[in-house]
This record gives sequence, structure tokens and C-alpha cells, in this order.
Amino acid sequence: MPELIVKVPAEETSYALKIEKNLLSQIGREISALFSGKKIMVVTDETVHNHYGENVLNQLRRAGFEVQCIVLPPGEQTKTFSSMPAIFSQLIEFGLTRSDLIIALGGGVVGDITGFAAATYLRGISFVQIPTTLLAQVDSSVGGKVGVDLPEGKNLVGAFYHPELVLIDPLVLETLTNQSFADGMAEVIKYGCIKDQNLFNHLMEMSSREEVMDQIEWVIETCCTIKKTVVQEDEKDTSERMLLNFGHTLGHAIEAYYHYEVYSHGQGVAIGMVELSRLAEEQGLTQTGTTEKIIKILENHQLPTKLETPADYAEILPYIEKDKKNFKGNLNIIVLEEIGSARRIKTDRTFFSKLEVGGNKP
Ligand SMILES: NC(=O)c1ccc[n+]([C@@H]2O[C@H](COP(=O)([O-])OP(=O)(O)OC[C@H]3O[C@@H](n4cnc5c(N)ncnc54)[C@H](O)[C@@H]3O)[C@@H](O)[C@H]2O)c1
Ligand SMILES: [Zn+2]
Repeated sequence: MPELIVKVPAEETSYALKIEKNLLSQIGREISALFSGKKIMVVTDETVHNHYGENVLNQLRRAGFEVQCIVLPPGEQTKTFSSMPAIFSQLIEFGLTRSDLIIALGGGVVGDITGFAAATYLRGISFVQIPTTLLAQVDSSVGGKVGVDLPEGKNLVGAFYHPELVLIDPLVLETLTNQSFADGMAEVIKYGCIKDQNLFNHLMEMSSREEVMDQIEWVIETCCTIKKTVVQEDEKDTSERMLLNFGHTLGHAIEAYYHYEVYSHGQGVAIGMVELSRLAEEQGLTQTGTTEKIIKILENHQLPTKLETPADYAEILPYIEKDKKNFKGNLNIIVLEEIGSARRIKTDRTFFSKLEVGGNKP
């Protein structure tokens, strides 16, 4: 089975990331090989629990562990600081000690909140990630960022805290909604854009979820290798890791302007990648024809390429300044040189001014 080792240079440790179809049916064996303690708390959400919860819990019990489960309501609204006290109470009631284990079984929401609980409960307890969405399998489960949202904004409280192991079973993606699958594809396409022309070209040849699933192990391994390489070089997100934000500055602003109700994260990022590369192309920063390729690939994978109402850009752009990564008017933007190669430029809001003018045209 494909196995990647993710190094954590600052802590002189590393963890394994295993990718295999049907790995979920080997959970008992995998956890027994890693963990010799007694108690395991599995944290999941209702949807994932309905599909996979009993299977995972039963395997762990059969392997001899004492297991309990916290089932959270699904969705981003669960990933808030106010969810934490109830989670901590259940960990304490179960009598979980620092020599026990927490497992995150779910998408990015479950992974982020569980990782944050693991990072802070008793000042840190071991945890394992079993990501179940495409986004979580290629993005959020690698790199050690964990955290929760505040009423003032997303991901404002958190930590860098790494799992002991990441177990990826691509077959669990079969039960995802088309929307969630497409959201993950936006990140997959992003990796191709910033680092891997070969991945991009392969994705360009696929035009359905089924075609992606036929090569899903390779797709996930390729994306995780890129993410791992980038985060190993820049664990604390100061330079190289920023490349992963391609399309995200504008994408986040789009999501936020519509109160996270109209465009999902993947859709915001998709539109962000198109507009960003169009502006960069016009300014001679990106090879001519790149935007056209990005539009084509996003259409192949059921992602939007423009806003329904472009005039809204006049009001969306101020949201860019509210993003926590844009301090003091200095805007770090990731532009492509060409497909597969990206760099960071320092600019300001004027970079986007054409978008505003364009958006206001009747
Ligand atoms: N830590 C990081 O580095 C990082 C990176 C990117 C995103 N994130 C975070 O990830 C979150 C988004 O993650 P997400 O897109 O996975 O959302 P999510 O966790 O909300 O999952 C999306 C939906 O899919 C359901 N689901 C999950 N697995 C399923 C399965 N196998 N079958 C059927 N349904 C399933 C969930 O119940 C949920 O309703 C955001 O909070 C974002 O901030 C974190
Ligand atoms: Zn993203």
C-alpha cells in the first residue's frame, strides 16, 4: 500500500500516512500496531457515524480496546470554540489519560476540532486521523493545522499539532455528495496548478467522478506528497506553504461575503483561481492561455468558474482585508508562472482593481 512518511522537523518526529482501498476494514489491526494503551475515544459526526461508525467501533472493541464515541452534529457550525467544553467533559468522564488515544473519524471539520481537542486536553494526547472526505484526505489531515472558529471568524483559534498516524481509505469517498466530492477536487486541481503539470494534465483528461475514482489512490498519493513536501519545508506557514493559498485569498472573500451560504469553500477557491490567474495573465505575470486551461479543467470537474453576479466584486473585495493572512495592507498573492509552477508576490488591493471595474460593467 502507498505509505508516505511526513517529517515534523521542529519536533524531530514523523508520522505515517497510509492510503489503501478498504483500509477501514483493517482499523483494528492498524491501531493495535500503533497503540498499546487501553482507552480510545472516537470523535465523528452524525453522517459519518451512520455510514461507518459501528464498523470502526466494533473493530476496535474486537481488538481489545475500551472504546467510546462522541458524535457531533455535521457541518462547519460544529467547529466552534463553544463546542469544546462538552467534548472535554466527555473525555474526562471517560477517564481518558495522556497514555490513551483519540481518533478523528470524519471530514475536515471533525479532523480540525478533534485535533484541537487532542492538542489541548491534558496539554496534549495522541491522536489518529481517519479522514473521510476528499478535502480531508488530500489537504486537512496533512500538515498539523488544527483549530476551531470564533464568532469573529474562521480558524482563529488553533495549534500546530500532528497526528500519530493518518489512515486514508479512498473507498469511503463513494458515499460523499457530489458537492463535497467537487469541493475536494478544487484542492486537487489546485495542487496541479501550483506544483504538478503531470497531475493537471491527467485531471484534464478526466471528466467525471467515476474517472477520478478509477485512479483515486494515485490522485490522493500525488496530492499528499505535494502537501507533505511543502509543509515539511515550512512547518509554520511563513513562506513556501503560502503557495497552497492559490485562489484562496479571493475564494475566502467570496465565501465570507455570501455568509458561507451560497458558495462552498471549493467553489470559492475555483472562482478565485480563475479570476486570479486572469488578472495575473493580463499583467504579464502568468503565461498566456493558463486561465483558459483552468476554466476547462474546473468545468470537467463540476466546479464554477465565475460568480453568478460579477457586480458583487465591488463589495467582495473589502473582505480580502479582513482575512487574517493579509496584514497591514500588504497582500501576499500566489500567482502561477504557468501550470505547475507558482510564486508569491507582494502587492496590495490595486491588484484586484480590474476585477472591480470589470464587475461593475453592465
Ligand atoms: N487543517 C487544515 O489544514 C485544513 C485545510 C483545509 C480545510 N480545513 C477545514 O476543513 C473543513 C472542511 O472540511 P470538509 O470539506 O471535509 O467538510 P466536513 O467535515 O464538514 O464534511 C462535509 C460533509 O460531508 C460529510 N461526510 C464526511 N465524510 C463522509 C463520507 N465518507 N460519506 C458521506 N458523507 C461524509 C460530513 O458529515 C459533512 O456533512 C473546514 O472547516 C476547513 O477550515 C482544514
Ligand atoms: Zn482550501
